[in-house]
Amino acid sequence: MTTTTLAPMPTGSPLPAALEDRTVMIIGGSSGIGLAAGELLASVGARVVLVGRDKARLETALDHVRATPGASALGIAADGNDESAVERALDQAGQVDHVLVTAGTIAAGALLDTPRERVSEVVDGRIWGAYGVARAAAPRLPAGGSITFTSGLYLMRPVPGASASIAGIGAVEGLTRALAVELAPRRLRVNAVRYGVVDTPLARTAMELADDAAVAAAGEGLLIGRLGTAQEAASASLFLMANNLMTGTVLTVDGGQGLV
Ligand SMILES: NC(=O)c1ccc[n+]([C@@H]2O[C@H](COP(=O)([O-])OP(=O)(O)OC[C@H]3O[C@@H](n4cnc5c(N)ncnc54)[C@H](OP(=O)(O)O)[C@@H]3O)[C@@H](O)[C@H]2O)c1
Repeated sequence: MTTTTLAPMPTGSPLPAALEDRTVMIIGGSSGIGLAAGELLASVGARVVLVGRDKARLETALDHVRATPGASALGIAADGNDESAVERALDQAGQVDHVLVTAGTIAAGALLDTPRERVSEVVDGRIWGAYGVARAAAPRLPAGGSITFTSGLYLMRPVPGASASIAGIGAVEGLTRALAVELAPRRLRVNAVRYGVVDTPLARTAMELADDAAVAAAGEGLLIGRLGTAQEAASASLFLMANNLMTGTVLTVDGGQGLV
């Protein structure tokens, strides 16, 4: 497939308000950071397409997004790791300008206790899910469009018992930089956000935080004295989508967790 180099990247306002009337598909949009991104995007007038696998969770998430006055939100139940399903979702959604991928989970297990088969689904999903989303989105996004992937601070500050998942997010960061170069002639941008610990259902389950008091206690030793909120984390993705100067960047959003 040959790619003709388009005219230079369009310029425009880099403020999140510039996302008004743009359509953003959030793969992993039915919970946590993805759902928070959906709510923020609706608040700046973007059309939001939430993608998740569990239909009931998706419906609940849609209710949250639609609570924003004037919100335009669509839900599509699909597996973001399935390239064909993502293609169908993009076609169903109509013109999509930006794609945010927050789908993913952590596979825990110490190296010597954890054969590859036990973690391969999660790790493969992380890597090949991102690759498949890019393949599906690249021919469909307009110039100035973007893809934003998800990484995590464990890549820089590893913890024992998560090596396979950490390798997976490392691959996603590599893919981000490589695709920023490869898709540049199409004037598409590719970025990632590297999150520290953010208070979401995933983090509460993974860290066995039973209630708000446990969440508060988990954040006490951090530089800002608490975990990040899903909204704080999600806002980074709006910045990356809206700003046409941003490509090939992995933005760390961690409340300084990487420093201590
Ligand atoms: N929270 C943190 O502290 C933290 C830190 C670093 C990195 N991260 C990463 O940030 C991302 C978002 O995390 P979160 O905490 O917001 O998680 P979350 O609350 O569990 O939300 C994840 C969302 O992704 C969806 N999803 C998962 N697999 C999917 C798939 N194959 N296809 C479509 N949707 C899928 C889930 O819905 P369904 O299960 O119904 O599909 C859910 O809506 C994850 O990749 C996570 O690893 C999180």
